[in-house]
Amino acid sequence: MSTQVTEQEQEAEETVEEAVSETETEAVGAARAAQVDYGYMEEKAEQEVRDAETTVKLKVFRYDPEVKGKQEPRFDTFTVPFHKGMTVLDALMYARDHYDSSLTFRHSCRQAVCGSDALFVNGRQRLGCKTQLADLKDSDGPPGTVTIEPLPHSDVVKDLVVDMQHFYDQMEAVEPYFQTDDYPKGELEEQRQSRENREKIKMSTRCIWCSACMSSCNIAAGDNEYLGPAAINKAYRFAMDEREGESQKQRRLEIIEQEHGVWRCQTQFSCTEVCPKDIPLTEHIQELKREAVKSNLKFW
Ligand code: SF4
Ligand code: FES
Repeated sequence: MSTQVTEQEQEAEETVEEAVSETETEAVGAARAAQVDYGYMEEKAEQEVRDAETTVKLKVFRYDPEVKGKQEPRFDTFTVPFHKGMTVLDALMYARDHYDSSLTFRHSCRQAVCGSDALFVNGRQRLGCKTQLADLKDSDGPPGTVTIEPLPHSDVVKDLVVDMQHFYDQMEAVEPYFQTDDYPKGELEEQRQSRENREKIKMSTRCIWCSACMSSCNIAAGDNEYLGPAAINKAYRFAMDEREGESQKQRRLEIIEQEHGVWRCQTQFSCTEVCPKDIPLTEHIQELKREAVKSNLKFW
C-alpha cells in the first residue's frame, strides 16, 4: 500500500515538474515575443509619425524612486501622431504602448467619471481623458509641444502618479456619507427629497475625487491641515441635504468651521476654475461660511 502511494506521489511530482517547466518555457517565450512586439511597436510608431499629417510632442515628467539612475526627475519627449478627437490620455497611452512601457500614469473610465487621471497639463490641472489636444494649441494649427506633469503639491510615487492619501484623509474627515436624524419607519419606505432641494445640491454631488481643486489651491499648499475645496464641497453636499435633519446639519457645520476649515478659504477661485465637473466650489464654500455665521448668532 505504502509502495503504491510513493509511486503515485512520485508520478504526481513528475507531472507537476513537467507542468512547471512547460509553463516556464511558455512564460519565457511570451516575454521574448513581447520584446519582439515591443520593438515592432516602436518601429510602427516611427512609421506612423512619418506618415502622419500632424504630430504632437509630449514632454512628460519622469521619476522612478525605485530604479537607480532614474531617481533624478527629468522630462522625456515622445512624438505622437495626432488625429482629430485625440485626448491627452490617448496620447499618453500611445507613448506608453509604442515607446516606453514603463511610463506610469493612472486612468480607468476614459470618460471623466473615475477621477483617476487628473494631471498638470501645460501649467493647469486637467483630466487627461477630458482634455482634447486640439484645445491646447496656442493660436492656429496643432498644439506642438504639450507638457505633462503630476499634480503639484502632492508627493510623486512614480512618473505622473501622485500619492492621494492626504486628499482621501481630508475627504474622510468630513464624513462623506449620508447620516440622518430620522430614518423612515417602514423597511421599504423611501426617504424623499424635494425637487428644489435636489436642484440645490445637484452640482455638489458631481465630485469625482480627482483632487484637481486641492492641487490648485494656494491655501492647501501652505496649510497641510486645511480641509480643502473638495472636502468642504462634500460637507456642503450633506449639510444642505434636507433629509439629514437639523442636528446633523449643525454637527457638519461644526466640522467645517474648525480652524482649518471654511475660514481658511480666501476666495481665489482657482479650485472653481480647474474643477472638471464645473462645481461652483468657491460659491459653496461661501455659502457654508454664511450658514456657520447664522448658526452661531444668538439673539437675547
Ligand atoms: S471638486 Fe471638482 S476638482 Fe475637486 S475633487 Fe471634486 S471633481 Fe475634482
Ligand atoms: S480616466 Fe476616469 S476620469 Fe479620466
